[in-house]
Amino acid sequence: MQSSWEAGSGKRTLHQSVYDVIIQGIQSGKWGEHERLPSVRQLAEEIQVHRLTVLKAYQRLQDEGVVVSKYKSGYFVAPASQGPAGINRKEQAWTYRAKSQYIHRSRLSDIHRIPVEYQMSEALINPNLLPNAFLSNHVKQVFDKYPRVLSTYSSVKGDPELREELTQYFMQKQGISLHPEELMITTGSQQAIDLISRAFVKSGDTILIERPTYSPAIDVFVQQNVKIVPVEITPMGYDLDRLDQLMRDEKPSLFYMNPTFQNPTGYTVPVPQRKQLVEMAERYACILVEDEVYHDMYFGAMPPAPMFYYDTEGYVIHIRSFSKYVAPGLRISVLAARPEMMQAIVPVKALSDNGTPLLTQKIFQQYFFSSRLQNHVAKLRTALELRKEKMEALLAPTGWKWNSPGGGLNLWVQLPEPLSADALLQRCLQASVAFVPGRICDPLDAMDSWIRLSYSFIPEDRMEEGVGRLIAAAHREVM
Ligand SMILES: Cc1ncc(COP(=O)(O)O)c(C=O)c1O
Repeated sequence: MQSSWEAGSGKRTLHQSVYDVIIQGIQSGKWGEHERLPSVRQLAEEIQVHRLTVLKAYQRLQDEGVVVSKYKSGYFVAPASQGPAGINRKEQAWTYRAKSQYIHRSRLSDIHRIPVEYQMSEALINPNLLPNAFLSNHVKQVFDKYPRVLSTYSSVKGDPELREELTQYFMQKQGISLHPEELMITTGSQQAIDLISRAFVKSGDTILIERPTYSPAIDVFVQQNVKIVPVEITPMGYDLDRLDQLMRDEKPSLFYMNPTFQNPTGYTVPVPQRKQLVEMAERYACILVEDEVYHDMYFGAMPPAPMFYYDTEGYVIHIRSFSKYVAPGLRISVLAARPEMMQAIVPVKALSDNGTPLLTQKIFQQYFFSSRLQNHVAKLRTALELRKEKMEALLAPTGWKWNSPGGGLNLWVQLPEPLSADALLQRCLQASVAFVPGRICDPLDAMDSWIRLSYSFIPEDRMEEGVGRLIAAAHREVM
């Protein structure tokens, strides 16, 4: 039994692994509905862990409604109707059998799926802030200009015209010199992360990842069965001495980072650190995967140049998504990598989808480089900043702590003791309010006193009520 949960567990906590074992037993039918589960002592002996570890796993399953505890009788499998909100247990069993490591972390999309009136979990921009009518005119123009756009494939790396225009964009905006062959259009940044993980890491490798981080990136790397070593990110960036030590001792194959208006914290890694990180990457032959989803969503001053700008040896892979603020439905991102790296990514992209659909690339090309869209983006920044300020003003009376971000879509808020983000979320969902609890963003599965609140998606006229309900739920939680 031990081998089944140890394999690929990397730095995941023991209680997480025990939790997986119990879930697997329930989903495979080993323990049916209403059936008594092994006692804490039995299970601890069977899989050779401390009793407290098993107890912690049972308590978590109880919080999630998967098991129930009966006084003096132990733990029992809960009836299916009592399972986690919105998840059918049979469906869950298939998912679990398909990829057992994935089910736990994918709770982020589970949270997004729960219909609520006050949506502060999604880091998306409210559709009313995007120029939709303008986009539909452009779509028509694309079909007039490229009547065969649906009759052919794109090349694997993406449409050459679009890549050519993007090289000019990178030069003008960031002073980065690129050849179109060093760019790949991907179906969102999410795909770019996945392609990189499949091109550059193999089972058993070690990778570094920020703590906290963009949760689906953790999912991607967990799927590859790697050992995940967290690197704390603070408002000042990273502890570079520690990072140096980690790179030297752990020999990671890559460091996945989100250095500008980081998701979820909003922190930005300062320029001197960016330069030093590139030097460290060279010294230890560690790839830096720089995911810049929020780079253009700044308020006031522009953010520092990406690390790709400082990289002369080709250790940095730069991912830039346009999904969030141009047209999320187009799912267009660009991955920039020097030729040696690109060579390894192209076959993976070919296996994945043979190239991002040409139609969406052409729509993006027509739309993105238009002066109308660029002017719109300037107004969008102001609108987002005002929303951020409004949410901050609404939260101010609580005394909760956060660092006001210079861009991005989220506030990363620390709750006072003894509030638990997970417990607060359950209470908030009953009040039709959603946010992301910190644990989901934590590769170590802790950070239960933090929450990510997105100010960009909730309709502005609902923000006051939504934040009010959140605060009221927090008061009830501590009473
Ligand atoms: C840090 C980060 N990377 C990647 C993504 C995924 O972006 P895309 O919509 O382009 O796939 C997101 C979306 O929230 C993100 O926050």
